[in-house]
Amino acid sequence: MAKNSLSIVDNRTGKSYEIPIEEGGVIRASALRNIKTSPEDFGLMSYDPAFTNTASCRSKITFIDGDKGILRYRGYPIEELAEKSNYLETAYLIVKGELPDREHYQRWENNIKIHTMVHESIKQFMQGYRYDAHPMGMLLGTVGALSTFYPDAANINDLESRRLQTRRLIGKMPTLAAFAYRHTRGLPYVYPDNDLSYTGNFMSMLFKMTELKYKPNPVLERALDVLFILHADHEQNCSANAMRSVGSSQPDPYAAAAAAVAALYGPLHGGANEQAIRGLMEIGSVKNIPDMIKRVKNRERRLMGFGHRVYKNYDPRAKILKKLAYEVFEVTGKNPLIDIAVELERIALEDDYFVSHKLYPNVDFYSGIIYQAMGFPMTMFPVLFAIPRTAGWMAQWAEMVRDPEQAIARPRQVYIGEQLRHYAPIDQRPKPTQREDAVSEAI
Ligand code: ACO
Repeated sequence: MAKNSLSIVDNRTGKSYEIPIEEGGVIRASALRNIKTSPEDFGLMSYDPAFTNTASCRSKITFIDGDKGILRYRGYPIEELAEKSNYLETAYLIVKGELPDREHYQRWENNIKIHTMVHESIKQFMQGYRYDAHPMGMLLGTVGALSTFYPDAANINDLESRRLQTRRLIGKMPTLAAFAYRHTRGLPYVYPDNDLSYTGNFMSMLFKMTELKYKPNPVLERALDVLFILHADHEQNCSANAMRSVGSSQPDPYAAAAAAVAALYGPLHGGANEQAIRGLMEIGSVKNIPDMIKRVKNRERRLMGFGHRVYKNYDPRAKILKKLAYEVFEVTGKNPLIDIAVELERIALEDDYFVSHKLYPNVDFYSGIIYQAMGFPMTMFPVLFAIPRTAGWMAQWAEMVRDPEQAIARPRQVYIGEQLRHYAPIDQRPKPTQREDAVSEAI
């Protein structure tokens, strides 16, 4: 009869072991520790650089089926949320697990809006950045600095404190992001306008000039809302993993969120849409696409905005964004890069290399084109990702804090360095040539 277990025979000892297979086809890595050659033996470990096949947690937040191109927050398909919800409602869903009723939504919206202001010292802190500082670098430092403003946040085991920090950070992220943007432009910071929606207020803090009241264009305001919904969470991605991993040593969530922002800064994560735009600009014209495809296939470079660790099918977010791009262009005028992108996608999806490697456009392929059409400089792209992802980070963090199975994140290693050797006085060490070879490989 079929059993939910795995039988392993250790050919070193001839012993057999039975390991339970848990829900979702999972075995516990710790079960391998029982497989030993002697009582003193440490036992087997699994080796999984970059965690390509390791589940680090049990989570109820986001479901992805990468082969089928499915993304759901708390069970709701991303396509339905992008069409019918707004960012704040989706953030509520991600953080709390259910869609709010009207009363809870209004309370949530109000609770977020009362946290859009930042301490005046934050403003001065930001003014200390160099005039040409990267806005994502500014955001990273400032999110970390929030830790010093809210010492109560250290109380991570208190439910009310966790809730308060979540509302605070979701409320303040657009303000910090907008201040960073205004700083790079040499413009005065604009204070929040809580009459406006979450994204409308963000646009006001970014773009308001001398007018008494900023009126966001409703199409662009909605487009930003959809972009924010699509970026709100993505299960155990690099920045969520950073949030959980740093959070596992129990600092306050601002310290953990700063680590998440840092993870998102990299070109393989939140910086990928900038790279995608640069790739399209480098192609320059539809007629140069075949040459680029050739270079990618010769492994001279990667096609940025293509491929994903989890999606081995079309990223459902990219589909929504491709359509959204044309709605935005009705207001902003067409970003000419869209023609190159659409043709590049068409050619790539018919090409053997991309088909066999299951490389499809990811969320970053079209998001940058939209942001650029809306007037955002490329340095703002990862910042625009960080704002909505805050809901996901806080939900992932709170889930980790509440999970009795979680402990400080501390992976094992396979040590491949020198065995025991003894300290030699400086003039008795190996000759420089031998040492230099060894030292030059070290970093
Ligand atoms: N262009 C060309 N080839 C690619 C690409 C690409 N964009 N991505 C992967 N490949 C190829 C690799 O060369 C490799 O080929 P091989 O097996 O023949 O050697 C194979 O596909 C697997 O690649 P990995 O790097 O092992 O795949 P992994 O799952 O680790 O990487 C990643 C995923 C980092 C996203 C990768 O596809 C990539 O670098 N893409 C471009 C950057 C990008 O768009 N990042 C945004 C990701 S989405 C996000 O963070 C929101």
